[in-house]
Amino acid sequence: MRLKDKVSLITGASNGMGAAEARLFSNEGSHVILADIQDVLGQKLVEEITQSGGSAEYFHLDVTEESNWEKLMQYLKSEFGKLDVLVNNAGISASSPDLLDIEIFDNVIKVNTRGVFLGMKYCLGLMSDNGAGSIVNISSISGMVGQSYVHMGYSGSKGAVRLMTKSAAIQYAEKGIRVNSVHPGVMPPMTTSEMTADPEFRKIMLEDVPMRRVGLVEEVANAVLFLASNEASYITGAELPVDGGLTAR
Ligand SMILES: NC(=O)c1ccc[n+]([C@@H]2O[C@H](COP(=O)([O-])OP(=O)(O)OC[C@H]3O[C@@H](n4cnc5c(N)ncnc54)[C@H](O)[C@@H]3O)[C@@H](O)[C@H]2O)c1
Repeated sequence: MRLKDKVSLITGASNGMGAAEARLFSNEGSHVILADIQDVLGQKLVEEITQSGGSAEYFHLDVTEESNWEKLMQYLKSEFGKLDVLVNNAGISASSPDLLDIEIFDNVIKVNTRGVFLGMKYCLGLMSDNGAGSIVNISSISGMVGQSYVHMGYSGSKGAVRLMTKSAAIQYAEKGIRVNSVHPGVMPPMTTSEMTADPEFRKIMLEDVPMRRVGLVEEVANAVLFLASNEASYITGAELPVDGGLTAR
């Protein structure tokens, strides 16, 4: 089992990729805390996971609310005394025909960027106390390239996640914490997708995809699992050669 005895927190775990990660992580031996604002769906998924022999629980968390993060951290400290893995997955789409809508800009930055920042702000502390941890931030292809139909706010929100990830990775490497971002391409529509969930519009989106198909949530979840697991360990648990690696093969 690739996450045996680990405690993992996945935000936005009630649906989509977060739900797929929750199922996969529990199959790999992790205790999973599913955090979301869609409580009924999240609790239902916890039931499904526990009934199939996994270990999981649901925690209501609005990623934009500091007070929610504080409450969750207190719970994690008292219940487990550690957090091994954080997947900052919660996010909203900015799909709209009006690519200059300011309300969409403000909302998407609040959830997709501030939410990820808050997740790191609170979890890095607990991970640092234990000298180990892996954070996986879900960005997007939209955080790497411009796209004709994607609101600048969404691209900006995901581009910021990419660079916040790099900053955190550098700032916390010596504490034994790895921070990576994952950049899915065209996936099944988000629950908040409007225009980009339209079947006709999706045909246009797929024209930019060499395989002409959407990604599967499990394909992303497997990449996230690798980064969360010790297989991706670069500092934590690795034997560092004393000669700077000159003789490492
Ligand atoms: N679907 C895609 O095409 C695609 C592509 C690339 C990246 N992404 C990113 O992947 C992540 C997951 O997307 P998905 O496709 O599974 O979407 P989804 O809509 O199926 O799931 C997102 C989850 O986040 C939750 N959420 C939204 N706002 C929240 C908040 N304030 N606090 C806590 N939870 C909140 C939702 O309730 C939902 O359960 C997102 O960050 C998204 O931006 C999606």
